[in-house]
Formats: sequence, C-alpha cells, structure tokens
Amino acid sequence: MSIEKKVLILGVLAAMCTATAWADNDGDEEGERGFGSRALSFFSHKNGVENVGNKLYKESCGECHFAYQPGLLPSASWERLLSADQLSDHFGENAELNEADRKKVLEFVTSHAAEKSNYRVSMKIANSVDSSNPPLRITKTRYIERKHHELSDRLVKNNKDVRFLGNCTACHRKATEGTYDEDTVSIPNFPRWDD
Ligand code: HEC
Ligand code: HEC
Repeated sequence: MSIEKKVLILGVLAAMCTATAWADNDGDEEGERGFGSRALSFFSHKNGVENVGNKLYKESCGECHFAYQPGLLPSASWERLLSADQLSDHFGENAELNEADRKKVLEFVTSHAAEKSNYRVSMKIANSVDSSNPPLRITKTRYIERKHHELSDRLVKNNKDVRFLGNCTACHRKATEGTYDEDTVSIPNFPRWDD
C-alpha cells in the first residue's frame, strides 16, 4: 500500500473516532448518532464492560460487594479510591491493604480502566466523567446516575434485597460476567417494576 493511502486511511479512522467521542458525550440514547459512530460501533465496540479479574483483586475487593470490573471507573477515580487514606476510611469501612498489595491492585484496575476500554458501557462511563473531579463511586458517574435516576427508594434503599445502588449484582443478573443489558435486569421483590 502506498504511503499516501495509509495516511488517508488513518485520517478517516481518526475522524470516525472523534465523531464517536463527540456523539457519546451528548448523553442520549443510541440510534440517534451520526454515521461514524454507528459504523465504528459495528466493528469495534463490545457490549457491557470487559470481564477481567485477578485473584488478589477478588480477595481484596470482592468480600463486601462483588469485585467491580475495572472498566466501571476511569483511572482517575481508581487512583482516588485506592489511595491509602481513602482505603482506611472506605465509605465508613476499613478496606486497608498492605502497600505492596495496594500498588498491585491499583496497577491492575488502572490498566483496565474505563477510558482504556473499547467496551460500550466503559466508553460511556469514561465520557460522562469530569476527569478534574473524578467521582469515588460508579453510581456517581453521570452515565450510571442517569440510567438509574428513576428508581425510587422503595426499589433500592428500602428494598431489603438491594439496599444500595452499588449492589449491581442484586438487579443485574449477569453483572459478574460484565453484562448490564436491559434484558438481564430484574429488581428483587419488584418483578413488574417497569409497568
Ligand atoms: C470491609 C468491606 C469492604 C471492602 C473490603 C471493600 N469495600 Fe468497597 N464498599 C464497601 C461499602 C460499605 C461501600 C458503600 C456501599 C453503599 O453505597 O452503602 C463500598 C463501595 C464501593 C464502591 C462504590 C460503589 C458505588 O456506589 O458506586 C467502590 C467503587 C468500591 N467500594 C470499591 C472497592 C475496592 C476497589 C475495594 C478493594 C480495595 C473495596 N471496595 C473493598 C465496603 C467494602
Ligand atoms: C435496584 C436495581 C439496580 C441496581 C442495584 C443497579 N441497577 Fe443498573 N439498571 C437497573 C435498571 C432498572 C436499569 C434500566 C433498565 C431499562 O432501562 O430498561 C439499569 C440500567 C443500567 C445500565 C444501562 C443498560 C443499558 O444498556 O442501557 C447500566 C450500564 C447499569 N444499569 C449498570 C449498573 C451498575 C454498574 C450497577 C452497580 C454499580 C447497577 N447498574 C446497579 C437496575 C439496577
């Protein structure tokens, strides 16, 4: 292939990526996007979030809630959350790790963080976060917040089988596989929640 052709192809790809990043930012539903974004999602987006885990991470972070996939938060959030200060007061709990493990866990989650992923939910989360003020919670990223804003306390906080919105596995039956599609949701005790 001639060098000119390569440059042309790269240029087209770059333009499509820019279109996607821009289109995903508007925060609205699929299907209203430009051609570039849909064409790109056809060959490179994957659904949900990447389902990676490792033993140390599962043991350190999967005891009180399921080990959230790294692609549910951008690196900037993981860095805040996994600082030694935060871990000793982790939402009122002590989740301290020794320094070597803390570094290994941090390295693991940041290397698979939302902004490095080509999975659909991760890309949406990454695009919805203000990186100068990264949230400590997945449920405080704008995308996840927006997807759940209609759920009342009756369905979440006061639902004895849910209790907190970060309890993804209570409602998303395939959360541990990295799947969060609408058709895999069922809210405990409210089988007909969306009527
Ligand atoms: C001792 C129990 C405990 C351990 C261990 C623990 N957590 Fe948590 N975690 C909690 C509690 C409690 C909450 C807040 C739940 C709520 O919203 O009421 C929480 C919330 C979170 C949230 C926010 C969820 C949301 O609302 O979006 C993240 C992210 C998180 N933990 C990551 C981690 C990571 C990473 C580790 C490993 C270093 C870890 N946790 C270890 C108890 C724990
Ligand atoms: C109380 C139950 C409940 C909990 C807990 C919950 N969700 Fe959801 N989630 C829902 C419902 C209901 C929807 C909307 C489904 C629909 O629009 O039909 C949804 C939608 C989503 C979507 C959008 C799916 C799509 O394709 O549009 C994502 C992504 C998601 N949730 C991720 C999460 C994550 C990550 C957590 C944990 C941090 C979580 N959810 C916790 C009930 C829950």
